[in-house]
Amino acid sequence: MLKAKYEALFNHGGLKRIIISRNRAKYALIFFLLATSGLMFLLRNILTLEKLRWRNSSHTAFPQMRSAPPYQAHTFCSHMSREPTPDEALEDRYLLKAIAWPKLPARPAPAPLNQTSDPVHSLFTILPSKGQKEWHVGDQLEALVQMNDFQGSPKRYGGDFLVARLHSPDLGAGVAGKVVDHLNGSYSALFPLLWGGSAQVQITMVHSSEAVAVLQRLREERPNRVFFKSLFRSGNLSETTTCIPCLPLNYPQQPLCNYTNLHTGEPWYCLKPKLLSCDTRIKHAMGGYENPLFTNKEARLFQSRVNIKVVIHASGPDRINVSKIDETELENSTIKPEPDKYTPSGYYYKGTWRPLGGTSVRQFNDPSSITQCLSGKVIHMYGDSTMRQWYEYLSAFIPDFNLHRSKLGPLMAVDFKHNILMNYRCHGPPIRIFPVSTSELRYVANEVDGLAGGPDTVVVFSIWAHFTSFPIEVYIRRMRHIRQALVRLLDRGPRTLVIIRSANFVAMDQTTSKHSSDWFSLQIDKVLRTMFKGLAAVFVDAWEMTLAHHSPHNIHPPPPIIKNMVDLILSRVCPDKKKS
Ligand SMILES: *[C@@H]1O[C@H](CO)[C@@H](O)[C@H](O)[C@H]1NC(C)=O
Ligand SMILES: *[C@@H]1O[C@H](CO)[C@@H](O)[C@H](O)[C@H]1NC(C)=O
Ligand SMILES: *[C@@H]1O[C@H](CO)[C@@H](O)[C@H](O)[C@H]1NC(C)=O
Ligand SMILES: *[C@@H]1O[C@H](CO)[C@@H](O)[C@H](O)[C@H]1NC(C)=O
Ligand SMILES: *[C@@H]1O[C@H](CO)[C@@H](O)[C@H](O)[C@H]1NC(C)=O
Ligand SMILES: *[C@@H]1O[C@H](CO)[C@@H](O)[C@H](O)[C@H]1NC(C)=O
Ligand SMILES: *[C@@H]1O[C@H](CO)[C@@H](O)[C@H](O)[C@H]1NC(C)=O
Repeated sequence: MLKAKYEALFNHGGLKRIIISRNRAKYALIFFLLATSGLMFLLRNILTLEKLRWRNSSHTAFPQMRSAPPYQAHTFCSHMSREPTPDEALEDRYLLKAIAWPKLPARPAPAPLNQTSDPVHSLFTILPSKGQKEWHVGDQLEALVQMNDFQGSPKRYGGDFLVARLHSPDLGAGVAGKVVDHLNGSYSALFPLLWGGSAQVQITMVHSSEAVAVLQRLREERPNRVFFKSLFRSGNLSETTTCIPCLPLNYPQQPLCNYTNLHTGEPWYCLKPKLLSCDTRIKHAMGGYENPLFTNKEARLFQSRVNIKVVIHASGPDRINVSKIDETELENSTIKPEPDKYTPSGYYYKGTWRPLGGTSVRQFNDPSSITQCLSGKVIHMYGDSTMRQWYEYLSAFIPDFNLHRSKLGPLMAVDFKHNILMNYRCHGPPIRIFPVSTSELRYVANEVDGLAGGPDTVVVFSIWAHFTSFPIEVYIRRMRHIRQALVRLLDRGPRTLVIIRSANFVAMDQTTSKHSSDWFSLQIDKVLRTMFKGLAAVFVDAWEMTLAHHSPHNIHPPPPIIKNMVDLILSRVCPDKKKS
């Protein structure tokens, strides 16, 4: 019911029906009444931050922020931002349902460590192929995973975060698998067989279900575990205060500066400096991390080499032989997605990414092929540093015109001869960044509204890494404004090429898990895919491209992956005329 209603509304052109309404304040009273004294503690602590000097305050110098009361997912920030319209509320419900994660069974106390999932005691088995002796290209492979705890007893509930890939190192081949949670401690990993030869199954436990439950708690109860600061200056006076998208409810006597963006309605608040006025804010920067976040017991669920990203072994063989079909036939065949079967968005073969579903990728190996392709184009890139990687890759071919001599941007590259303009700008707050001038801190939706668009305009964005620590609503709201702006852009400038890059896997340890775990990114990634489904845009599946690849996970994927991503977008910027 919800699904049908959602799809009717938000996909297939229905996007245009999303309108901004000013219907708000209905629940303001309720939220006000929910305020508790715990919040006062938080504020008192934040206040002392003001005394800290800019640039001189190390992260450890920040006093601990007290935990906020458990916000219900759908109420985070509602008291400080516009109420969603009925359509937006429907979409929120749909998205929250789409990313719902299995709950741990109710029990009086948290499971002791020895009863939590242990990848070393868990095993997977490759299931025999149905009705045949051999595996063939085009078949689907299934591996069954049984999760066990540290004592070797089988787990009886689901919710572990597992990822799977099938790969052939000799062939430079790899594909992301799909993991299905049977909710009883067993999981199926599904893989399409896309190439001939030996293929090896790799299944990794990213987090135990018990660890995911802790991350969920952090996301809802400690939404400001990453916080920011701003520098205010006027004449010889300067002050620094803490900033977050939403300060807790009810802060009597505590003046705030409201930097809510008038155009998008994106909320952003800083504590008001003692002496200076709100309009003297000149810089934004990363503030710090709240600490501690884990109890001692919880910390044991996040141990590198024990229960964070540890490979699960096979009970029998971990590889199969896939019978080769004629090599030339394989190389040129386009594998068509089949209903009833899991179809990934692409796979690596001989180190190059091949998307499935009809679009082939050309290799842009020499500089002239790249400048030819981009000839006459204006490329606008927006987002975090994972977007800047594309800019940096391409600026090896287009002269970079960086007056700022800073990585923060905005960055610009110009090729007069081929009439190419490429620029990059970081997205608006929240952004964990070195001190950046607030005048350069702009919302992507507003920037997109300033573009005319058209067939020679390419708009690219990648926004995820700085949203992982916030309740998912913060991300949904941001994507909604960007989507609205892109819909307007496509109306204004038809045939503008819009390219969206999804989240990717990162290297994780106990500390980074708290605010940047792949589990948070997974949720963001699902939201992104769902929200942009109906939009005419090219989707670069960084999630699968980093999972399927052999290189270790890194928030900034290594050059071979970046090249594959850029070749993919160039193939869409200048499609092969002969073929189409
Ligand atoms: C940092 O603090 C030290 C002493 O606490 C002071 O001597 C120094 O000038 C400060 N540096 C800046 C950049 O404010
Ligand atoms: C902040 O400003 C926005 C836009 O003017 C407004 O809608 C919002 O209510 C303000 N927030 C607070 C807490 O006053
Ligand atoms: C499992 O852990 C609990 C609590 O730490 C402990 O009391 C119990 O003895 C352990 N069981 C085994 C079999 O090690
Ligand atoms: C778990 O569920 C799957 C799918 O329903 C089933 O095939 C399997 O036998 C179950 N495993 C156990 C141990 O109950
Ligand atoms: C700051 O400027 C004011 C007015 O220009 C001056 O009176 C004051 O002494 C200055 N303070 C410092 C610390 O330099
Ligand atoms: C795959 O084939 C090779 C030789 O062709 C053989 O040695 C190997 O045992 C086979 N592996 C499996 C898992 O069947
Ligand atoms: C396969 O593609 C390559 C390059 O795209 C081409 O040279 C070759 O002739 C094709 N082979 C067949 C059998 O179509």
